[in-house]
Amino acid sequence: MTAPTPRSLPWPYEQRDGWLFCQGVRLVDIAKEFGTPCYVYSEAAILKAHETLACPDSKARMARICYAVKANSNLAILRLLAKAGAGFDIVSGGELQRVLAAGGAAPRVVFSGVGKSKQELRLALEQTVGCINVESLAELQQLETVAEDLGLTAPISIRVNPDIDAKTHPYISTGLKENKFGLGLNDALEAYKRAQKSRHLRIVGVDCHIGSQITSLQPFQDATKRLLAFVTELHHLGISLAHIDLGGGLGICYKDEQPPSAEELKNQGLQMVADWAATTGCQSPEVVFEMGRSIVGASGLLLSQVLLLKPSSDPTAKNFAIVDAAMNDLMRPSLYQAWHDLVLLHPRQSVARAQTWDVVGPVCETGDWLARERSLELSEGDLLAFASAGAYGSTMGSNYNSRARPPEVLIRSDGSVNLIRRRETFQELIELEKIPQDLWS
Ligand code: LLP
Repeated sequence: MTAPTPRSLPWPYEQRDGWLFCQGVRLVDIAKEFGTPCYVYSEAAILKAHETLACPDSKARMARICYAVKANSNLAILRLLAKAGAGFDIVSGGELQRVLAAGGAAPRVVFSGVGKSKQELRLALEQTVGCINVESLAELQQLETVAEDLGLTAPISIRVNPDIDAKTHPYISTGLKENKFGLGLNDALEAYKRAQKSRHLRIVGVDCHIGSQITSLQPFQDATKRLLAFVTELHHLGISLAHIDLGGGLGICYKDEQPPSAEELKNQGLQMVADWAATTGCQSPEVVFEMGRSIVGASGLLLSQVLLLKPSSDPTAKNFAIVDAAMNDLMRPSLYQAWHDLVLLHPRQSVARAQTWDVVGPVCETGDWLARERSLELSEGDLLAFASAGAYGSTMGSNYNSRARPPEVLIRSDGSVNLIRRRETFQELIELEKIPQDLWS
């Protein structure tokens, strides 16, 4: 593989004489110590991405960052971000418990999701989460009942579906009226009117989230405009908000995308809200972002080894490189036809075959591919990395084909190496299962 370091491998990853390093750590050594497949994350990359969003703009205005836990929920990563001052965006009781286990503060949590169970709502209220982002009138009703039963008042925001095309993969677009998320403007207004009358609901904000891997500022700007016009309507009803949550969704570079910087997006949001406050004479609400991918995506790699090469003698057929990682470890290619750059961890071996390869895993599904039609020089035994795998990699993994989940390793800013999740064992895979006694006879 002779290509230059891809843009998808940002600081602190670097290639030196064909070896891939992170903070002075040679990734081949990580692959050898922990085996493959294996996820690796860079602490410095995560903290830098968070800081870019969390630091004040030129007018000393700040946004509150609620990291979207679903992107990567490893406890060590949640801890890093909690220590850095992040709040959290969660979508389940499980994610809430992870945040608490990592020492995150419940009042800095926003709880999103279209289908929260009563138990989850109860847990959220008992733990005093900062805001429940309500997505339907039925949920509002349920939440009110749960809060009343507990003798508590639920802090709420209504998730508005602004009907904006985020111009991303249809599976990760969420802000169109055909998507299941949030409430259209009329229904959202109705929800606020009902909440206003309730003794067990306290309106604290408004939120929206239009999709993920968005690579231009325009859809964010359009959504914010609609949201602010809506907030003006609320103001006329006597409803004032402590925060406006502009969601997450900022894209990263997987291949050749050129998304806006986190700073540009943050500044746009802060400026639009400040301008709105100045024209309406309202107090400027706090601006919240629920970023996931842009904080952890580029920080992570999935290390893997080439098990076998299967070139075809038929020039019209495909050449397959079979690696030890598979769709159960990294779902994104199978699910969204996503591109992850492939980088060798070491100099190319002299026996390497330059060919167009489909890089596939051992899982028994035709959809089990990780990279298609890549021009690569590969040999059996090569160690390689799938880039930009820090977000929606490990969290979307499964045990399909009874494959143990890979370990996760954190490379600290000082170059030390921490195993933050060990490889699953076979015993753990079958732990919850039981063969009824009579089936043995
Ligand atoms: N807030 C809400 C309500 C969300 O649903 C999401 C992501 C986020 C924030 C964070 O979005 P981000 O900043 O990470 O784009 N599995 C897909 C992505 C699904 C995103 C789901 N919602 C993928 O691998 O591309």
